[in-house]
Amino acid sequence: MIRMTNVSKVYNTGSIKFEALREVNIEIKEREFCAVVGPSGSGKSTLMNIIGCLDDCTTGEYFLRGTSVANMTQNQLADVRNQTIGFVFQSFNLLPYATAEENVEVPLLFAGKSRKLRLERCRHLLERVGLADKMKNRPTEMSGGEMQRVAIARSLANDPPLILADEPTGNLDTRTGGAIVDLFNELHDEGRTIIMITHDPNIAAKLPRQIYMQDGALVDKLRIAS
Ligand SMILES: Nc1ncnc2c1ncn2[C@@H]1O[C@H](COP(=O)(O)OP(=O)(O)OP(=O)(O)O)[C@@H](O)[C@H]1O
Ligand SMILES: [Mg+2]
Repeated sequence: MIRMTNVSKVYNTGSIKFEALREVNIEIKEREFCAVVGPSGSGKSTLMNIIGCLDDCTTGEYFLRGTSVANMTQNQLADVRNQTIGFVFQSFNLLPYATAEENVEVPLLFAGKSRKLRLERCRHLLERVGLADKMKNRPTEMSGGEMQRVAIARSLANDPPLILADEPTGNLDTRTGGAIVDLFNELHDEGRTIIMITHDPNIAAKLPRQIYMQDGALVDKLRIAS
């Protein structure tokens, strides 16, 4: 699914260069479920943004399902982000004035699906995440756990094989976060590849694979617990 060779990322802020990723080599196979763990600033989100084709690497090569991302056109990248990858973020990133249903509909609109299909799909996905009775609620009318369920339903809109989640339980209490992890486990059982950044060592320990990051590099084990 994912192969990176010697991927580095340098951010330029004014005249200051900062190397956020250093020579990352990684392979993640289809149907893996990985936790990405590491201290704040270690490069987890930077890595995730590159995996998600939201940002590019400075040097090195990244292959997504065998295709070099650097060689993709803007249109191809937009298609990949819409069809191949589902995104879930810590702060949910929902449209504040749109209902749950309208939020889930967004990727379907971009994909050019008919209104009938969009509405069927939104209803199905919101039922699936346990929000059948909240379809018309706006984010301000939902709990954090419910908002994250809407975000997960949205990430599934176009049935992507890969789900990227950046601290999806970071704003939730332990019990609500646990329910969100259960949902990711179900999505994994269905055959999806899932990469999840988490600060929670208890959550990370329960996942099949852990990827540890420190100072922009992948390490076998963390020197200091985060
Ligand atoms: N757009 C940017 N411009 C300049 N520096 C950046 C930018 N984005 C991130 N950085 C720097 O790169 C480093 C890695 O950031 P990143 O967001 O990947 O860390 P992280 O591991 O996700 O941390 P956290 O756990 O706090 O979310 C940090 O030192 C950060 O300040
Ligand atoms: Mg981060």
